[in-house]
Amino acid sequence: MKQLELNNRKVAVIGCGFVGATSAFGLMQSGLFSEMVLIDANTEKAEGEAMDISHGIPFARPMKIYAGGYDDIMDAAIIVVTAGANQKPGETRLDLVQKNVGIFKSIIPEIAKRDYQGILLIVSNPVDILTYTAHKLSGMPENRVIGSGTVLDTARLKYELGEHLGVDSRSVHAFIIGEHGDSEIAAWSSANVSGIPLNTFCEMRGHFNHDDSMERIAANVRNSAYEIIAKKNATYYGIAMSVKRICEAIVRDEKSILPVSGMIHGMYGVEDVVLSMPAIVGKNGIERQVPISLDEDEQKQLRKSAQILKEMAEQVL
Ligand SMILES: NC(=O)c1ccc[n+]([C@@H]2O[C@H](COP(=O)([O-])OP(=O)(O)OC[C@H]3O[C@@H](n4cnc5c(N)ncnc54)[C@H](O)[C@@H]3O)[C@@H](O)[C@H]2O)c1
Repeated sequence: MKQLELNNRKVAVIGCGFVGATSAFGLMQSGLFSEMVLIDANTEKAEGEAMDISHGIPFARPMKIYAGGYDDIMDAAIIVVTAGANQKPGETRLDLVQKNVGIFKSIIPEIAKRDYQGILLIVSNPVDILTYTAHKLSGMPENRVIGSGTVLDTARLKYELGEHLGVDSRSVHAFIIGEHGDSEIAAWSSANVSGIPLNTFCEMRGHFNHDDSMERIAANVRNSAYEIIAKKNATYYGIAMSVKRICEAIVRDEKSILPVSGMIHGMYGVEDVVLSMPAIVGKNGIERQVPISLDEDEQKQLRKSAQILKEMAEQVL
């Protein structure tokens, strides 16, 4: 197969359900790309979304949006994969694993056999396991197979903290790390608001019950997907913004620090597991992970999260 030169202005989205279509809509508005290909097992769905999203172009910037096949996406700078079943009410992300690994076994080899040279951004859940699956099935280097990881959970954490403290959530620096799911960890010990340690800032704003607040906020973040799914069957706006943010960091080679999911080698005793740690993200995907400082308890929780993911990955692959 002839190798195509990558087009930094081109993106592909595989899976045009709630998450894929909303992400495509966000990417159209972002101005980052001039060409976008949509793929779905349901061809009519991809065609319909391409038409509908294209009709917004006169309010954004010129670009070409169309439904296509795998031969159309090989020069895309980024392929976003959102194909797969979503969580049903009461179902955990890990419950989804068998179903979606099966779907990946039909998608990833199509990409691998065309010797894809761009960035594969995995969004389907359970995202850490599926990023690991995509890496194994594609044989692509670890830095170019990344998961949206806890970028969304971290946005939820910043939003909740911003509301709690009456401050712009962009001034809040805090991360959710580990699994995108039930064993995720709020890294409180490194959290700060514009350089001011979180507890000091809380006290400036009249909050003194630190343990209770942290427990409540972390639980809200952890449970928000379940709550949204119970109310409206799917979550898609927050993740679409997260996809747009990650794509922006890649195509603009921003070297932004984002908690994407990637292979961990040795950090805090975690070995050969895909999970989220803050990482420098640019044109080559993950440039390197950043070992933010964690206290003993957070380190213990991270190793536990890694163990859960490792066992799951071993069962499915
Ligand atoms: N990572 C995150 O933070 C995050 C957030 C929300 C949802 N998700 C996940 O995103 C995924 C999609 O969710 P959704 O709500 O859009 O689901 P959905 O059911 O609306 O859409 C899934 C789409 O994938 C398509 N599809 C299935 N098999 C395919 C294949 N082999 N090739 C191409 N397309 C295929 C389906 O036709 C469907 O259009 C789920 O796994 C969900 O859990 C992840």
